[in-house]
Amino acid sequence: MTIKEKRLIIANFKMYLSDKAQVDQWLRNFEKASRDLKPEDTKLVLCPPSMSLSRFAEYLREGYLNVGAQDCFWEEEGAFTGALGAKMISSYGGKFVILGHSERRRYFAETDEQVALKVKIALKNRLHPVVCVGENATQKRQEETKEVLLNKLDQCLKYVGKGSVEELVLCYEPIWAISANNPDHLPSANELMEAKVLMKKFLVNKYGASNAERVKIIYGGSIDSGNYEEICTESGMEGALVGSAGKMPYELVKIIKIADKN
Ligand code: PGA
Repeated sequence: MTIKEKRLIIANFKMYLSDKAQVDQWLRNFEKASRDLKPEDTKLVLCPPSMSLSRFAEYLREGYLNVGAQDCFWEEEGAFTGALGAKMISSYGGKFVILGHSERRRYFAETDEQVALKVKIALKNRLHPVVCVGENATQKRQEETKEVLLNKLDQCLKYVGKGSVEELVLCYEPIWAISANNPDHLPSANELMEAKVLMKKFLVNKYGASNAERVKIIYGGSIDSGNYEEICTESGMEGALVGSAGKMPYELVKIIKIADKN
């Protein structure tokens, strides 16, 4: 189950591909755009809206590709109208699940405790949880980033034991840097390096150095092919969570190529 590639590009399609025609067109264009794509050390994970997860999983057969979901519920099965189960995701071919995204927290009132339970059920169902943590604009202004990150990591990973920590992906995603929040600037490579070191230290303290070493730490927020290198490569981030740029298959392929050559 361990992720063998060095870098991960995870496309979060949010609710962008909003009808069947758009899904079909995206897949057709991706097929064309990715014809000569053979990343050596980069995995691409596509997280479409859950309606089209199985379609993506059936369509995309290249070894460097995986499919994932954007959320899951914390119970295994039962009377939970509208919920998406981790077991469903896994049985339809999903390998990853994004958890604790700030849009889930904002629009669906998700708490850290709920995220922690979701991480637990995801691991039980052999999914890689992609756990998002990050500060908002006010917290940044008040210089609370460190405290916010440590607190969220502590809460969201509270049910993760040493034995499964290597299945995790942690995403540092400052809420103010997400493209939908109209960022007027992005974090510097230095700021990202600091966040990465902080997150690694947390992992080392909780799980020991050799386990911590195996956890991928990626960055999310307004990544495109023009800024990947300057932001992610220079800061040592091991990949990115890509939102709006992923709507364009050619742009996504460009990002993967840039990530893979570094
Ligand atoms: P963005 O989204 O790339 O559009 O900023 C990233 C995310 O929210 O996952």
